[in-house]
Amino acid sequence: MNELQIPQRPRVLVLGSGAREHALVWKLAQSPRRPQLFVAPGNPGMETLAERVALTVEDASGVRAWAATHGIDLVVIGPEAALAAGVADALRQAGIRVFGPDRAAARLETSKAFAKQVMQAAGVPTAPFRVFDDAAAAADYVRTHGAPVVVKADGLAAGKGVVVADSVDAALQALDEMMVQGRFGAAGRQVVLEEKLVGREASAMCFVDGTTVVPMLPARDYKRVGDGDRGPNTGGMGAFAPVPDAPPDLGTIVSERIVRPVLAELAKAGVVYRGVLYVGLMLTAEGPQVVEFNCRFGDPETQVVLPLLASDLLEVAWATAGGELAAVPVQWHEKTAVCVVLAAEGYPGAPRTGDPLLLPDPAQVAEGWLFHAGTGWRDGQLVTAGGRVLSAVATGWDVATARARAYRLANQVAFSGKLFRRDIAVL
Ligand code: AMP
Ligand code: GLY
Repeated sequence: MNELQIPQRPRVLVLGSGAREHALVWKLAQSPRRPQLFVAPGNPGMETLAERVALTVEDASGVRAWAATHGIDLVVIGPEAALAAGVADALRQAGIRVFGPDRAAARLETSKAFAKQVMQAAGVPTAPFRVFDDAAAAADYVRTHGAPVVVKADGLAAGKGVVVADSVDAALQALDEMMVQGRFGAAGRQVVLEEKLVGREASAMCFVDGTTVVPMLPARDYKRVGDGDRGPNTGGMGAFAPVPDAPPDLGTIVSERIVRPVLAELAKAGVVYRGVLYVGLMLTAEGPQVVEFNCRFGDPETQVVLPLLASDLLEVAWATAGGELAAVPVQWHEKTAVCVVLAAEGYPGAPRTGDPLLLPDPAQVAEGWLFHAGTGWRDGQLVTAGGRVLSAVATGWDVATARARAYRLANQVAFSGKLFRRDIAVL
């Protein structure tokens, strides 16, 4: 087995500012390699673990210049906007090791039409689909084929660009908003129409170093704001891992039937994938089918998967970025993790911000962590500063224990207008 050539006290920059990135920084900080951690722009929760840097994550040349002058050994990219802006390309061109795919590979997330075409060419199980860039032709197709049908804006739309339409009218309205009224701008000029899949969802994230694929534990997230999956879609209101109703060989299915064929298809165009490939699955009666790809860690899935990772994330990320993943064993704790997202009143519409936050003493928290997202400082006081404020995460030997701990933690946090689901990980 090759020894990884990791420098002494490596200097690692994480890009992003959410609870996902707090979890990444928290896990990297546990590395026996004792990394020096930087985060841009980060949030108050990370300040004891990493030095915050005022960089814009989509500013490829700014990130590259800062990383080069500060001797950064590894950059870990959190958000898709940075991938879409070519931050990974810019860093690689400067010879800086980076965890996250180049822009060409990130098209698996930034263009749903591209993702479907790659899947079709690679023979990956996914819903039958058609791509349209003409609004009248798309509407004709819907009238002819009827409902249900799923309407998807091609480009990035902050999780709002998908409508599962159970009637022809709903589908036509979605098409009109996307293609005619331009609700998502250029991202909705092209749409994918696809067959509705029935089943439960699972998020299967994989470390991919170009050739080696290592699946993480499958997770499930809760996208709707209200209990019982009611109300509008959000960035995610909670998650748990692993998923007990996923097939036991899901990791093998995902790497052999989905990720490897996709990598082979990308390779035909000279595209190499390095980072996390997030496979969003529907567990249907005919087996797992791909609903979407994301080219980065999921949020809130990361907050439940990383506490279960027994291996050193720094080594895994270093090896993934350098094409050396086969040299690193990736091991997991046999536990369950549950994440309850604490959101601000008004989320996901127009959340109220600026409310003072009271957090429990960390010593009072058993096997639990509060990962910050929308928090900020005002006159030395911690206040709410975004829609999703905190992730309350806990682990336990079984779902019931982890769940009870996560909810106890959620209840130990106080701020006006605190909003959270009561049914996360209720199986
Ligand atoms: P996406 O952004 O593609 O993940 O879609 C967002 C959500 O829409 C998914 O998590 C699913 O809940 C739902 N969805 C997307 N595609 C389908 C499909 N073909 N059938 C049923 N639900 C879907
Ligand atoms: N949890 C879904 C996402 O990260 O996009």
